[in-house]
Amino acid sequence: MKKLPLKIAVLVSGRGSNLQAIIDAIERGEIYGKIEVVITNKNDAYALERAKRHNIEGIYVDPSVCKSKGDYDRAIINILENKKVELICLAGFMRILTPYLVNKFKGRIMNIHPSLIPSFPGLDAQKKALEYGVKVAGATVHFVDEGVDSGPIILQSAVHVSDKDTIETLSERILKEEHKIYPQAIKLFAEDRLIVKGRRVFIP
Ligand code: GAR
Repeated sequence: MKKLPLKIAVLVSGRGSNLQAIIDAIERGEIYGKIEVVITNKNDAYALERAKRHNIEGIYVDPSVCKSKGDYDRAIINILENKKVELICLAGFMRILTPYLVNKFKGRIMNIHPSLIPSFPGLDAQKKALEYGVKVAGATVHFVDEGVDSGPIILQSAVHVSDKDTIETLSERILKEEHKIYPQAIKLFAEDRLIVKGRRVFIP
């Protein structure tokens, strides 16, 4: 029996350029998947516009109506379960997931981060890299565990840092790599080609 397209949810908070890269890769036929829903914690996220343009349902989950982080994540879980989502992609989703959500979808949540993890986890990764003076920076796609940007690494891509770089130019160069490796990681997941053993992710 032919496998059905992978059911994907993308969680976003802003611009949504990674969401766009995933949508484009699906539309080009590179990923055998379907974005069932885009979920956001920001009702003005431009990512919602992108979803709409591609006839993808966008849902704003308002943090102010949830009493706790647990309640918020339960609202998200309801949506994910209703849509029978198989893979959750965090794409600039600026909230830390509760361990409850992480464990419920263990091994089925990915995140993109604009640094070469384990360097510079958390906010403002590109600024931290420049200020530290690294000569090589980059992007990481990883599985999400209970920590911040600490789960098993799936793919990384490096860029050189030049003397002329500003936060903007470096971020732009890293973003181009993000747009390549995120769809690639999702494609590998959809093809069951990511084997996690401890911290290591093998790609047979
Ligand atoms: C991306 O650079 C992503 O790596 C970063 O937010 C940006 C979202 O851009 N995520 C983090 O820093 C998470 N720690 P986008 O909305 O255009 O995809």
